[in-house]
Amino acid sequence: MDIFEQLRQQIRGVLALSLLTSCGDAPGSEPQPSAPPPVSDPGKLHPQRVLHFTELRGYTFEPTSDPRLPNPSLLFSLAEAGQLTDPPGAPTACPPTLSLDALEAQGAILPGRQSKGSYTEYSITPEPALATAETPCAYQIVGNMIPGKGRPLQDQGEVVVAPAQFDHQNWSKPTCDPIFPDDKLVREQLATAWLRDAQVEHSSVAEFSRIVADLIGLGASPELLRDTLLAAQDEIRHAERCFELASFYAEEPLGPAPMALPPHQARSAKELAVRTFIDGCIEETLGALLAQTSAERCEDPILREILANTAFDESQHAGLAWRTLAWILQNSEDKAEILAEIRTIPLPDIHGNGVNLPQWGRLGLADQRSLRSRAWIRVVQPLLAELCGEPLEDLAIG
Ligand SMILES: [Fe+2]
Ligand SMILES: [Fe+2]
Repeated sequence: MDIFEQLRQQIRGVLALSLLTSCGDAPGSEPQPSAPPPVSDPGKLHPQRVLHFTELRGYTFEPTSDPRLPNPSLLFSLAEAGQLTDPPGAPTACPPTLSLDALEAQGAILPGRQSKGSYTEYSITPEPALATAETPCAYQIVGNMIPGKGRPLQDQGEVVVAPAQFDHQNWSKPTCDPIFPDDKLVREQLATAWLRDAQVEHSSVAEFSRIVADLIGLGASPELLRDTLLAAQDEIRHAERCFELASFYAEEPLGPAPMALPPHQARSAKELAVRTFIDGCIEETLGALLAQTSAERCEDPILREILANTAFDESQHAGLAWRTLAWILQNSEDKAEILAEIRTIPLPDIHGNGVNLPQWGRLGLADQRSLRSRAWIRVVQPLLAELCGEPLEDLAIG
């Protein structure tokens, strides 16, 4: 039995058998959810965002989730491009990239840029095909939501995290003693990677708290409320451990600054089901597998133990997500509509610069993508089929 089959069986064990028929014909039980507000555009859930450059010299960007749109370009004269580098200069050729800080200083609005408390990474790359004689320096700007473990708070499709704060003792108390890498670059990469994870884990505490409130609004059972609160407590522990590791590699104490919380509007059964499927049934399932695989390839025994413990917790959270989805389906009049929407949801792709240091417990982007594709077919789709009591070939796999 490989790790995919193991995890699938583990999640099946968490799911109560009575819930495995939730897509059948049994009538929904009380209480019924109130009339749902409009469901957010599923396109907004896609992590990659190509930014439209709508006003050539106005530096205003509109996020859009469709990467097939015409290439959104920044077009500059040589002198203008030179002023948007860091430090500004008078280049003889178009600079290979522009400074995001300089663009922002000129009035560019970059939604969700990490420095503003959200979690989007931007890149600017040359686009010489679009250059003209007047504006020979052409660039494309792309914003990618950075993947991480956990189930972070979101605001209109953007992951929201607390900014990192230095000299923050509360979240970085040393409790373990991993191997200290000799290579400074490796330490920096590990500090950055664990800090990102820490911010996402910390944000997951807020998200689970909101899920509890939503479940209360829908009349959930005490077992579901209790387990969701326990998951929030797990995320506090994960955040502490990740901040501790980030601080260890950075050699300075790191923690979360106060977080700008987006307003919360209670989610309808359908909205909660869709988010539960994406963030829990997909992402926490894949997060568990990523942590497990990272543990197996890690050469530091302390990190290996941390990753294995995280894998166990995340597999429990994945099981909880499937249970939550089953409960919503059982108790909603919109069961067919919810299922129809869930089945159209593709495996979200991941972007960003995943650091590739497997010996230190960090898998690169290529390994993560491969793992996600296999887990999508071997774990997520079979569980969805089982939940619905339908043969796998009836489900769209892609
Ligand atoms: Fe989790
Ligand atoms: Fe977590």
